[in-house]
Amino acid sequence: MLKHLAQQLAERDAQAMRRRRRVTETACAPQQHISPSDDGGHAIDPDAAPREVLAFCSNDYLGLANHPALIEAWAEGARLYGVGSGASHLISGHSRAHALLEDDLAEMLSPHLPEVRALSFGTGYLANLALLTALGDEHTSIYSDVLNHASLFDGARLAKASAYTYPHHDLAGLERRLAACRTPRKLIVTDGVFSMDGDLARVPELLALAERFDAWIVVDDAHGFGVLGEQGRGVLSHFGLRSERLICMGTLGKAAGVGGAFVAAHRTVIDWLVQSARAYIYTTAAPPAMAHTLRASLRLIRGAEGDRRRQHLGELIGALRSGLPAALGVVPGAPAASGWHLTDSLTAIQPLIVGGSAEALAAAAALEAQGLWVPAIRPPTVPAGSARLRITLSATHSAGDVNRLLAALAVAARTAGAPE
Ligand SMILES: Cc1ncc(COP(=O)(O)O)c(C=O)c1O
Repeated sequence: MLKHLAQQLAERDAQAMRRRRRVTETACAPQQHISPSDDGGHAIDPDAAPREVLAFCSNDYLGLANHPALIEAWAEGARLYGVGSGASHLISGHSRAHALLEDDLAEMLSPHLPEVRALSFGTGYLANLALLTALGDEHTSIYSDVLNHASLFDGARLAKASAYTYPHHDLAGLERRLAACRTPRKLIVTDGVFSMDGDLARVPELLALAERFDAWIVVDDAHGFGVLGEQGRGVLSHFGLRSERLICMGTLGKAAGVGGAFVAAHRTVIDWLVQSARAYIYTTAAPPAMAHTLRASLRLIRGAEGDRRRQHLGELIGALRSGLPAALGVVPGAPAASGWHLTDSLTAIQPLIVGGSAEALAAAAALEAQGLWVPAIRPPTVPAGSARLRITLSATHSAGDVNRLLAALAVAARTAGAPE
């Protein structure tokens, strides 16, 4: 076994595909201190001093992960409920804080989901496993966009349903499949904002297909909740949709800044999940203090502060997109000499596609040498040949931070991205 695994690891090294962790020494924020880890058998390299970096890698889009009001809410939650839930939700771990959080989430999504209830989870990965395994019985077909998040694919794999994948945004292909479907129930599954590309699913068109073919839609709004739509209600609000066919999953460790996740849907769907979703039933409930903190986070997201943060984030996205062509030395109308290009994203996820895995690693290293932390994302997380720098922006970045990123990218493109 050890020999086999060592061989596999060596292959990953040879293909520039070995993943490495960094240890963050400070709170999630643009300015961080990080240490190298893993090499030499230590959790933290004992010989390396922490370095200060300007980070463009978190999903803390609104900058709430280190917000003083939420730190205070967490302390208050711990004083009220202690630090652990002690059991799963169906035994004794379902606290008043969890129940109230679920009411708050349901109320927030009520303009979009009739007769809505919400169910809270410890992580988004678990929520997707729970949802797809509970709804995807042997009389159901699941249709997934090929760029959906891994947790949706894992959920579909674990489910007893027949699972199909359609090419990214291929509505015509999906329509053909739905027309040919012979199972009584059909589930279309999509990221709301695609996590590695930043583009939006065409949810209105998907809903029209669902109505035509009597299907249901699971929208994973991990990257839209808190950021898109009125009061940060997410992608359903962005598109102004309302239907009982919509099932919305959202994560709470990204724009909400804390952790956990939820599924919001018609109350009958939620009742069924509580009865049957193994990934909900057989796991310890998240700490009640976390649920208590999330209620405070939702108040921030929905209030004036949330609006201000979303507005500032929008300005940063605009500045990055408009400044990048000049930084990469692009002549108007022509592609960059390096071949690097942004995706068609208007969200806080602004991936810069560079191509090969080794090139993406070299680009990330060139940025790190200038004190910037931007992760290189490589296959199998993204398709072969589309390795990228996944730049993410947060409302706690400043315009000056984006200017620094643009200047560093200009240097990285000249070194790591120079054509042979
Ligand atoms: C689209 C999407 N869905 C689900 C998840 C899983 O959520 P969590 O990190 O809370 O497990 C993530 C990210 O991690 C994601 O990007």
